[in-house]
Amino acid sequence: MSPLSTYASQLPEAGLKAALACERTAIIKAVSDSGLKGRGGAGFPTGVKWNFAAAARGDRKFVICNADEGEPGTFKDRVILQEHADLVFEGMTIAARAIGAKEGVLFLRGEYTYLRGHLEAVLARRREAGLLGKGVLGSPLDFDIRIFMGAGAYICGEETALIEALEGFRGEPRNRPPFPVNTGFLDCPTVVNNVETLAWTACILGNGADWFRRVGTERSTGIKIFSVSGDCARPGVYEFPLGISVSDLLKEVGGEGAKACQIGGASGQCVPAKDFGRTIAFEDIPTGGSVIVFGPHRDMLEVLHNFLEFFVDESCGQCTPCRLGNAKLLEGLEKLRAGTCSMAYLRELCQLGETMQVASKCGLGQSSPNAFLSVVEHFRDEIMGRIPSHA
Ligand code: NAI
Ligand code: SF4
Repeated sequence: MSPLSTYASQLPEAGLKAALACERTAIIKAVSDSGLKGRGGAGFPTGVKWNFAAAARGDRKFVICNADEGEPGTFKDRVILQEHADLVFEGMTIAARAIGAKEGVLFLRGEYTYLRGHLEAVLARRREAGLLGKGVLGSPLDFDIRIFMGAGAYICGEETALIEALEGFRGEPRNRPPFPVNTGFLDCPTVVNNVETLAWTACILGNGADWFRRVGTERSTGIKIFSVSGDCARPGVYEFPLGISVSDLLKEVGGEGAKACQIGGASGQCVPAKDFGRTIAFEDIPTGGSVIVFGPHRDMLEVLHNFLEFFVDESCGQCTPCRLGNAKLLEGLEKLRAGTCSMAYLRELCQLGETMQVASKCGLGQSSPNAFLSVVEHFRDEIMGRIPSHA
């Protein structure tokens, strides 16, 4: 049984009860002491985020659960919501108590509409049990959660685009700073946390920071939930301690013999076999949990084509480096596949990718060239084989 399931079955609501019994500062201290970092991918320390929101001025504050899981190859939040929705809502309620919020929103990916009935039923049961609503479990905390459906745009997983959509506008990222902890939903202090992050906060309050820290590395504590897909014998959702090496993970999932792994989804890094000794941790290869395994027969240019088509479709179009850059990279890749891309043009494409990384407004455009650049770096033989010899 997994640590999340063990916690959920043995200590129902222990985290929430502990949070209601202590000072807000003690809740934030427990989360900070655990070392928990954001499980959506960016790895921002959760205790620091909650502390900022708690300190922010404002009578109205919000807790938002980002369930707009859209990264290609990422499906672990879907499973957490299906199997451990109570833990996620418990975590949101703990966050509300920590920062002083009365309202919570679960922003659910449009493609996960089928989960809505289940989640509404869990919320109804929690209201009935006094775990949500006025005076949670007889305490002074008033807090409730509603579900807001996304409409299928990948960019709404970016927290400020998510907030725009929630306010009824087109889902386009805002400039940051100001960060949502100060100026978030309806300009009020807001914490936006990933589904998995919130589930772990409930476990941490229930079991203690040391329980969480007992595995992982000094800078990447705890268990991480992974979505594993691609050329492996046992794809699925796994719990591994952070700090696991890529090769150990591949052994567990039956992916030995892979020539590369895409870690962190389409916007992550393409790690070649020679680097499989590296570790999956915020200090080495960070990830929101997606691992896509590529077997020896995979054409890496076809993989890139797939990723770039995705980014061209999903760019919100607000800024030029991303809107035009992804389209240019895709066009260049098509030339490369057709054997009509010169070495000089390939160098220009790489420069374009590097410019996009620094000049794009949000994480989508900043990270969309990552796979292109890492495939060019690590799979030179496959690339050179497509460059005309006279070029
Ligand atoms: P970020 O590092 O800019 O921010 C991370 C979080 O920390 C945000 O909530 C932000 O508000 C907060 N934060 C950062 N600096 C702060 C400050 N000085 N004060 C207060 N709060 C601060 O990363 P971003 O752009 O939000 O997310 C990018 C990540 O998302 C990537 O690493 C990628 O792996 C991941 N991602 C995950 C997807 C999924 O489906 N799970 C989809 C696409 C990307
Ligand atoms: Fe939109 Fe892309 Fe610019 Fe982000 S980087 S704001 S997704 S155009």
